[in-house]
Amino acid sequence: MKLLQIDSSARRSSISRQLTSSFLDAWKKENSGGEAMERDLSTTALPHITDDWAGVFGDPSKLTPSQQLYLLTSDELIKELIAADTIVIGAPMYNFTISSLLKAWIDQIVRPGKTFVYGEGGPRGLLGGRKVVVITSRGGSYTAGKPQAALDFQEPYLRSVLGFIGLTDITFIHAEYQTGGEKAEASRSAAIEQIRQVVGQQSSSLVAEVVH
Ligand SMILES: Cc1cc2nc3c(=O)[nH]c(=O)nc-3n(C[C@H](O)[C@H](O)[C@H](O)COP(=O)(O)O)c2cc1C
Repeated sequence: MKLLQIDSSARRSSISRQLTSSFLDAWKKENSGGEAMERDLSTTALPHITDDWAGVFGDPSKLTPSQQLYLLTSDELIKELIAADTIVIGAPMYNFTISSLLKAWIDQIVRPGKTFVYGEGGPRGLLGGRKVVVITSRGGSYTAGKPQAALDFQEPYLRSVLGFIGLTDITFIHAEYQTGGEKAEASRSAAIEQIRQVVGQQSSSLVAEVVH
C-alpha cells in the first residue's frame, strides 16, 4: 500500500499539518508494510501556468527545451500521484477557498493525456480507484444548513476538480473554529477521531476486497 501525504499550508504552526500527521501515524499502524510519500508544497518549487505549459498538448518528442524543463515538475507530481493508493491532503481555508500552493499543485496535476483524456463522451478522468481524504482547517464553520455554508468554495471546488481526474472516492474531515478556544479544541479532537475511523474503515474494506 502507498500513501501520498500532501501538505499545503506554509505556516509552521499549521493545524492541517498536525492533522495530516495524525493521519500518517494512524495509517502506518494499519499498514505496517506500506510506503508513505510526503509532498510538502511549501518547499516545492511550483511553477505558475506559462506559455510553456502548452507543451502538454504537443508531441512529447517535439517539446522545446524550455517546455521540457517546465513540465519536469508536473511529471514528478503526477508520477507520485499515480503511485499512490491513498492520498491525504491537508488544506487550509484562505478567503473561503484553498491555498495558492494547493491551487498551483492542481494546475500541474490536471493534465490532458496523463490524468484525464478527452473522449467521445467528453473528458474522462484516469485516476479512478484511489482513495482521497481531504483534511481542512478553517477559522469559521461552514456546516450544511448554516448561512456561511454558501461561502465554502473549498470542499465543492476540490470535489469537482479531483473528480474531473477520476478521484471521486473523497472523504472530507473538517477542523472548524480554528481561531483558538474550546470550540477549536473540540473540533480538532473530533477530526482526530474521524481520522482514526476513516483509516480503520479503509483498512477493513481493503481486507474485504482481498477476501472476495
Ligand atoms: C490569509 C488568511 C485567510 C483566511 N481566510 C479564512 C476564511 O476565509 N475562512 C475561514 O474560516 N478561515 C480563514 N482563515 C483561517 C484559517 O483557515 C485557519 O487559520 C486555518 O487553521 C489555516 O490552516 P493551517 O493552520 O493549516 O495553516 C484565514 C487565515 C488566513 C491566514
